[in-house]
Amino acid sequence: MDASDISNDLERVHCTEEQIQARLAELAQEVWDHYDGEDFLLVGVLKGAVMVMADFMRHLPGSAPMDWMAVSSYGSGTKSSGVVRILKDLDTDITDRHVLIVEDIIDSGLTLSWIRANLESRSPRSVEILTLLRKPDAAKVEIDTRWVGFDIPNEFVVGYGLDFAEGYRNLRQVATLAPHVYS
Ligand code: PRP
Repeated sequence: MDASDISNDLERVHCTEEQIQARLAELAQEVWDHYDGEDFLLVGVLKGAVMVMADFMRHLPGSAPMDWMAVSSYGSGTKSSGVVRILKDLDTDITDRHVLIVEDIIDSGLTLSWIRANLESRSPRSVEILTLLRKPDAAKVEIDTRWVGFDIPNEFVVGYGLDFAEGYRNLRQVATLAPHVYS
C-alpha cells in the first residue's frame, strides 16, 4: 500500500521508501563494520519490527541469524509503567553472544528499556539497539541507542510496520495519521 492510495488518512509523509532503504543500507554497513567479523544475533520485537528486520538484514553484506520476541504491556493503561510480559521468548540461548535488538520505533523508551534489561540479565557478550525511528520528545527514559534511522516529531505515525488498530502496517512509507482517523 502506498501513501497515495490512502492520502485522505494521512497528514504527511516523514520517510519515503527511498529514504528508508538508503538509511538502512548505511546502518547495515556501520553495524557490519562494528562487529568486525564477530557473530551477532539480530533480535526483532514483534510485530512492528518485521519490515525493518526484513530490509535491514538484506542490506548486510554477510550472513547474520535472527530471532524474535513478542511482548505485551499489562493492559492498555500500563504501557507507561514500563511493565511488560513476554508472550514469545527467544529460541536462542544468548549467553556470551553479541545481540543486536532491531526495533521499528522508540517512543517513550519503556518497552525497549525493559527488553534490554531482560536480555542483559542472560549474560550476553553485548547488547546494542538499532531502531528505525525515535521520538526524542516522547522519551520517558534514556536509552543508549547505538543506531537510529530517523528522529521524528512526537506525532501519531503509521506505516512500515507501525500500526493503528492493527491497520496501516503495510504502508510503504512512514506517515502521520490524520486525526480524523482516530478521534
Ligand atoms: C511499539 C513499538 C515498540 C514500542 C515502542 O510496539 O514496536 O516496541 O511500541 O513504544 P515505547 O518506546 O513507548 O515503549 P507495540 O506495543 O505498539 O506493538 P507492535 O510492535 O505489535 O505494534
